Amino acid sequence: MNDRIDDTAHYRTLDAAHHIHPFSDMGALNRAGSHVIVRADGVYLWDSEGRRIVDGMAGLWCVNVGYGRRELAEATFAQMNMLPYYNTFFKTTHPPVIELSALLAELTSFERFLYCNSGSEANDTALRVVHRYWALQGKRDKRYVIARKNAYHGSTIAGTTLGGMDYMHEQMPSPVEMPSPVAHVAHIDQPYWYGEGGAASVEDFGIERARQLEAKILELGADHVAAFIDEPFQGAGGMIFPPPGYWREIEALFRADAWARGRGRRGFGRGKGGGLFVGVERGHVVCLRVSMVCPSKRIRRASPRPCREYALLSSDAEHQTSFNPLRSRP
Ligand SMILES: Cc1ncc(COP(=O)(O)O)c(C=O)c1O
Repeated sequence: MNDRIDDTAHYRTLDAAHHIHPFSDMGALNRAGSHVIVRADGVYLWDSEGRRIVDGMAGLWCVNVGYGRRELAEATFAQMNMLPYYNTFFKTTHPPVIELSALLAELTSFERFLYCNSGSEANDTALRVVHRYWALQGKRDKRYVIARKNAYHGSTIAGTTLGGMDYMHEQMPSPVEMPSPVAHVAHIDQPYWYGEGGAASVEDFGIERARQLEAKILELGADHVAAFIDEPFQGAGGMIFPPPGYWREIEALFRADAWARGRGRRGFGRGKGGGLFVGVERGHVVCLRVSMVCPSKRIRRASPRPCREYALLSSDAEHQTSFNPLRSRP
């Protein structure tokens, strides 16, 4: 037991000296000392003092198959020995990325997939895809992305700009609602009935909040709106599930015209029918067709999007270059 406590003190000292934690008050954390996790199996974690803990948060909502899965360790080991890394920038590809993409196409209603390192990066990429898409259509004025207050879309500059959490914007040099080099973002209210519903019935409140999207589009002008970004339910915002009817109202807006979410009446996605489960309301899941889905940690490194935009972007080398900033280097 003493050994374990010594380990804890040792790790805490080194952690305080050399490691900066994200989303943390480092002064307070270093004074209190970090919680050192040393091992995991199934749904359990063990800390440096030998305590077993149920990992109710599944890592950071991303360990969705549990810890200690031998088949994943063995597959990773085999691949690390065979081909640990290669890029796909320069006309190359490799079996793991091909096979994963084909599998995802089988499992989802999307056909093509672009890989990033995180959900933040996926949303950043989605933003660039949306702007590029409208530019290729000759509609460069379609710059605004409508997002929701208290939304979380990641921790990059684009992610925090799209997100609607005030304390994250305090770190930004310019007000988020103003046009910025990153994005023109306009926010509408969140569908949080418990916190903001007042005397309204839950259904009426959901409809009112959904219709704010239409009102915002009319305010900005449909010709200026490029996309609407949302979370199926607000995770970081407080596990907020919209009232029943909210997503159906949003979906009705998409069907009514062609500006939001970057898709038109026909829809871009040529999925195998049925769309994708992307709306989660209180009590049930709603199936909506969308142009892009950016998983965060859940499908780590995956950013699927349907084929029509992809075809547009990949049909022209110049577009590829401007789409990917790394390729823009001289
Ligand atoms: C809805 C949503 N979008 C984006 C992100 C950012 O993903 P990542 O942490 O992988 O950068 C998260 C992370 O939890 C998220 O919940």
